[in-house]
Amino acid sequence: MKKSKLTLLAAALPLLLNSAYAENKEVEVLHWWTSGGEAKALNVLKEDLESQGISWKDMPVAGGGGSDAMTVLRSRVQAGNPATAVQMLGFDIQDWAAEGALANLNDLAKAENWDAVIPAALQSFSKYEGNWVAAPVNVHSTNWVWASKKVMDEVGITEVPKNWDEFVTALDKVKAAGKTALAHGGQPWQDATIFDGVVLTTGGPEFYQKAMIDLDKEALTSDTMKTAFDRMRQLRGYVDDNFSGRDWNLASAMVIKEEAAFQIMGDWAKGEFIAAEKVPGEDFLCFRVPGTEGMVTFNSDQFAMFKVGEDSAAAQAAMAKSVESPVFQSAFNVVKGSAPARTDVPNDAFDDCGKKAMADLAAASEAGTLLGSMAHGHAAPAGIKNALYDVVTNHFNSDMSSDDAVKQLAEAIQGAM
Ligand code: BGC
Repeated sequence: MKKSKLTLLAAALPLLLNSAYAENKEVEVLHWWTSGGEAKALNVLKEDLESQGISWKDMPVAGGGGSDAMTVLRSRVQAGNPATAVQMLGFDIQDWAAEGALANLNDLAKAENWDAVIPAALQSFSKYEGNWVAAPVNVHSTNWVWASKKVMDEVGITEVPKNWDEFVTALDKVKAAGKTALAHGGQPWQDATIFDGVVLTTGGPEFYQKAMIDLDKEALTSDTMKTAFDRMRQLRGYVDDNFSGRDWNLASAMVIKEEAAFQIMGDWAKGEFIAAEKVPGEDFLCFRVPGTEGMVTFNSDQFAMFKVGEDSAAAQAAMAKSVESPVFQSAFNVVKGSAPARTDVPNDAFDDCGKKAMADLAAASEAGTLLGSMAHGHAAPAGIKNALYDVVTNHFNSDMSSDDAVKQLAEAIQGAM
């Protein structure tokens, strides 16, 4: 017996409907988490999503600070093919939101009560015109020193340096013993990361606010800023001959392998120590850039959620929901070296450096000494940040005077405004 056309259509209808609305259970994630510690942390997220039946399409673009990732992102978006979620810092989120490229996460944020548990300092970057457009993953901060306990002991540094002069004394001791005092990678974003801490210790939080966030010309050209450049010049004298272009995690490895004493780096460095099974307090020490105790220059990795087709919206929302879950916030940030992006996550699972990161963050937020990191996109938009990178790097790699550096800095920033 022949089936009527109608019967055939009725049989095909569910299939047709299904394919029209077939859910895409994959998230494509663009990020720059490519070091050993970073990859371990990212695995926590991959596994979490896989357990929910969501598969992961990896789009890694190496390069700390994310500048290279942002270049790749631009061409992806121009080609009409953004990733589902993109690791992003501070002002970049606002720029993409202003272009209308980001999804609206308000329903999820409301259901999950994000307004109440995510600190205001992060919300100001995760929301655009009052709408949630990104899911904050963590809070990092840049004004940290990572130190080899063994090297410190060997050269007779018995106390953690508490101010700049003590730090210089300690660096001198290491240098005199023939070891590398400062492990550093000469890349613009790493030079700028050091600069965050140097400006903060030199001028204090109010000065940092004026110079790096308000971009006040007087502060930028002040004697205090000149001293900051003098100190950058001082630090240049403590790096090894091969520092140029070195990746940050290889600089961390120098401290881990006890070849160097100190690294000034954000607390993602801790992820490398942990991945190498080193123990804080025993193998390595973490302390604030001397003279910046009680102050925090922060950055927050967020997943900016791009406008994707209706078929991918559920997987995207599931990812955002997972990222904010308290259990994930603890599991991920313990490995990553960061503090959680919510205020209600217990600190039990964190090591001493992680506990300090969380306590410092809360205290700085209370005291008004929580400041956006210039080097990591939380003080000013990308154009200004990149202008600062250029001057700081040119100064670090030449014999430019501090007088010239502050002049160039003010001009470059003015030009980028
Ligand atoms: C990010 C960190 C990352 C670091 C080095 C920073 O900009 O916030 O998550 O680990 O760059 O790649």
